[in-house]
Amino acid sequence: MSKRDNLAKIAIIGLGFVGLSLTAVLASKGYKTIGIDVDKLKCNKISQGNSTFFEPKLEKMLRDGLKKDLVISNNFSLINDCDYIFVTVGTPQRSNGAIDLSMIKKAVTSIGEIIRHSKNNPIILIKSTVIPGTMQDIILPILEERSNKKAGKDFGLISNPEFLQESSAIKDTIYPHVIVLGGYKTKFMKKMQSFFHKLHPNIPIIITNHQTSEMIKYANNSFLATKISFINQLSSICQNIPGANIDDIATTIGLDPRIGKQFLNAGPGYGGSCLPKDIKALINFSDKAGIKPTLLHAVEKTNENQLEQIIKLIKKIIGKDSGVQISVLGTAFKPDTDDIRDSISVELIKKLLVLKNKSKIIVYDPKAMNNTKKLFEDKIRYAKSISESIKNSKIIILMVNWKEFQGLNNNSFKKSSRVKIIDCRRILADKKFDADYYAIGIGRE
Ligand SMILES: NC(=O)c1ccc[n+]([C@@H]2O[C@H](COP(=O)([O-])OP(=O)(O)OC[C@H]3O[C@@H](n4cnc5c(N)ncnc54)[C@H](O)[C@@H]3O)[C@@H](O)[C@H]2O)c1
Repeated sequence: MSKRDNLAKIAIIGLGFVGLSLTAVLASKGYKTIGIDVDKLKCNKISQGNSTFFEPKLEKMLRDGLKKDLVISNNFSLINDCDYIFVTVGTPQRSNGAIDLSMIKKAVTSIGEIIRHSKNNPIILIKSTVIPGTMQDIILPILEERSNKKAGKDFGLISNPEFLQESSAIKDTIYPHVIVLGGYKTKFMKKMQSFFHKLHPNIPIIITNHQTSEMIKYANNSFLATKISFINQLSSICQNIPGANIDDIATTIGLDPRIGKQFLNAGPGYGGSCLPKDIKALINFSDKAGIKPTLLHAVEKTNENQLEQIIKLIKKIIGKDSGVQISVLGTAFKPDTDDIRDSISVELIKKLLVLKNKSKIIVYDPKAMNNTKKLFEDKIRYAKSISESIKNSKIIILMVNWKEFQGLNNNSFKKSSRVKIIDCRRILADKKFDADYYAIGIGRE
């Protein structure tokens, strides 16, 4: 980093998964960084070097940053003399599938009011995922009106979508695969291009307009969801071919460089805070534009079917019994995170809770127990370990590929009689069990 860059003062608005990861990385690299969030309690916790969620390597990086020039606050006026302002607030889903822009509208309103009195010409970068047209039709007018200044002249406005994955957020923030900068080709764009080039040498920088940049993010996530639904549909077919194994198929087709190996892990369906929300928002947007998004609908339907087939199997196993204890292993939306937002495991539990047979549900997750407790309260039971969760359970469902679950073997189930294992991730596929074992994507012989 050059000395001039080092002097740049950077604000990040919204300290969630994206914002806190960026804040910690920039601060640890020595930038004068200010992390702003409306949630005062969150700010207090972060200021003490504690993350509000689990993300590998994040806390260490945050503490490195706090030893340097990092300030965390809920006071927006601190952004007054910042050179770059990244907006990373949430854009959650509304019930009709459209995104809720209330947080981003509030955030840019606050930014506009602060820069109205500022002598700086800051560059505002929108990292939050927003539907095409949002920058031009909503964000830009709010900023110009509130600041009484002109975008492109008095301040820069750039769409800068984020592609990080939770569980590797720090690595992805330090080494992104691409930087997308959407907006007008002004001096501000040149400045950001050079900033990112120095921050991430050798990483491609795509410069385009606002709406294309916004659309790139949706294209990215809907393609990933499509890949998952594709392999999940194949896995359902494999289940009807005795001995067929979806992992061998995925590994092999993944070696074809035209296909690529990632996002070909068959399972109970995609979940998390991004893919379901983004595909729904794109469907909603396409409908409004008069385009029937038939492929995207099929991707969603395939995802729903994936969970339905697990429920169907559970119902078949339960039969007429009531009060059956079901152990759900893993509630996070993926391993190495405690995020349960739109987790497929949470969807499964919700569906099990409304089954007529009044099953007793017990769950275990290495990191997501607190979040799960907040959501389900006393509707389900919470185990302190895998063994406590599987003890006395008739059905054990492996939902998340946590490393800890790989240690399960035939001995683990000795104390539970007539146990049925449903392995949605084929974690135990190579082991021999006395118990009945069903694996998603493997044809029973
Ligand atoms: N989580 C991911 O993996 C990921 C990846 C890529 C892109 N994104 C996108 O990035 C955005 C942020 O996602 P996230 O998962 O980090 O969200 P999050 O919900 O974890 O965090 C958002 C933060 O913004 C704060 N906030 C809300 N309104 C605010 C305001 N007016 N001013 C200041 N702070 C405010 C909230 O208190 C919260 O801490 C979303 O648009 C999301 O779609 C997320």
